[in-house]
Amino acid sequence: MPESAIALYHQHYVEKDFERIDMFRLLVDRFGTRTALYPGSFVHVSPSLVIPSVTYVDSDRRCPSFFADPAIQAMVEERREYPEQPDIRFIAGDYATTIPDDVGPFDLLISQWAGPVSQVCKRWLRAGGILLANDSHVDASLAQVDPDYRLVAVLERRSGGRHLLSEDDLDAFFLPKSGVPPEPSELQRRTRPPRYTRVAAQYLFRRRAGPPG
Ligand SMILES: C[S@@+](CC[C@H](N)C(=O)[O-])C[C@H]1O[C@@H](n2cnc3c(N)ncnc32)[C@H](O)[C@@H]1O
Repeated sequence: MPESAIALYHQHYVEKDFERIDMFRLLVDRFGTRTALYPGSFVHVSPSLVIPSVTYVDSDRRCPSFFADPAIQAMVEERREYPEQPDIRFIAGDYATTIPDDVGPFDLLISQWAGPVSQVCKRWLRAGGILLANDSHVDASLAQVDPDYRLVAVLERRSGGRHLLSEDDLDAFFLPKSGVPPEPSELQRRTRPPRYTRVAAQYLFRRRAGPPG
């Protein structure tokens, strides 16, 4: 018997205290985020608790039935922190090939453990919009060397696991311990980021104005 959608969400996110709602709340408070695109989301529907319109994209076979389940819509409606009805959309498939040209552009692009989202999905982020990326799959490093993005803040994790947004000392990040700045082509080949003198849990980049290069 297939696992229920609610059970799947609880197993992966609630029971592990890994919903990261405070992280998305910080973005809404600081940048006024109203819409987001989340490629490689799996069933991490938490952004919809604080962001009214979120489009999720994933190729995992469990995702279509998860996002179609009325219990997920009901859970989000009950827990949401904004007045309007949640707008939850799901696109099944590879984020490199299945996102239609005419969706978005979005206020926020979310990249969490799902490959080079910052590069492949940049065109759906509006100019001036925010990329939220961690560096586990080298995606924050790729954004850092990409002239279309500018680092504007980091999120650090405090004791208790909550995030703190900081806009100070941003020049202290992405300095390789080797002293040699990585080439973009080298970063694209890597599966782990270079060792840096200082790291954050998450990085926030603003997409510069003009069409992406
Ligand atoms: C490690 S999970 C992370 C899930 C979620 N981002 C989180 O932080 O909890 C990676 C997810 O990305 C999806 N994924 C990776 N590459 C993808 C691609 N090219 N297209 C669609 N989904 C992808 C996988 O199917 C998987 O569900």
